[in-house]
Amino acid sequence: MKIVAIDGPAGSGKGTVSRILSKKCNLLYIDTGAMYRSIAYQVLKLGIDITDEEKITDIAKNSKIEFIDEKTYLNGIDISKEIRSMEVTKIVSPVSSIVPLREVLVGMQREMARNHDVIMEGRDITTVVFPNATYKFYLDATTPERAKRRYKENIIKGINSSYEEVLENIKKRDYNDMNKSVGALKIAHDAIYIDSTNMTIEEVVSAMENVIENDKHKEV
Ligand code: DC
Repeated sequence: MKIVAIDGPAGSGKGTVSRILSKKCNLLYIDTGAMYRSIAYQVLKLGIDITDEEKITDIAKNSKIEFIDEKTYLNGIDISKEIRSMEVTKIVSPVSSIVPLREVLVGMQREMARNHDVIMEGRDITTVVFPNATYKFYLDATTPERAKRRYKENIIKGINSSYEEVLENIKKRDYNDMNKSVGALKIAHDAIYIDSTNMTIEEVVSAMENVIENDKHKEV
């Protein structure tokens, strides 16, 4: 199967370009950040202590996460909007640092790609989940640019947040996501690095599409 793997920090544009490329190249889009968010959402909803690693890992084992028509379903319920709230965003990075939880979600991610050509984005896709992916990209942008993009997105989605709050959260998550003991955000040595700070979405999509289309027959 064909696997397009994309890693990068929050607000680098991974989600937007993956969505477009999934349609253009007929790939199933898998947003692994949404999977960690789905678990964080349940931690909040069930009032579980964020340090209770065993309970949180059990939640993941008993969760069915699906991506259908650009929506995220948790045990059959559409939670696409809920998982983008600032409350979930604030706790998702520490939740995603729980090593046994990561093992469960990485297993699900590998399973999802078993019968489909996929485009999968996150923090450890090119390094841990699919180190042998067909195509590997690392998407980046400066911190203020990423905060600006996320802040604008929040306004459109009706999520209540100030620019300062978004910037602070992105800085904290960057630090935490890059310093995890397992699954830390790193640039894989064989990933194509794209700095999207001064690029339009169309330019990024076209740069990635050129790589994928020029090498159409490559498969793992
Ligand atoms: O992509 P995102 O911002 O929705 O991801 C939410 C959090 O989940 C992010 O702060 C780090 C974590 N994450 C992870 O640890 N590994 C992944 N493959 C994807 C996301």
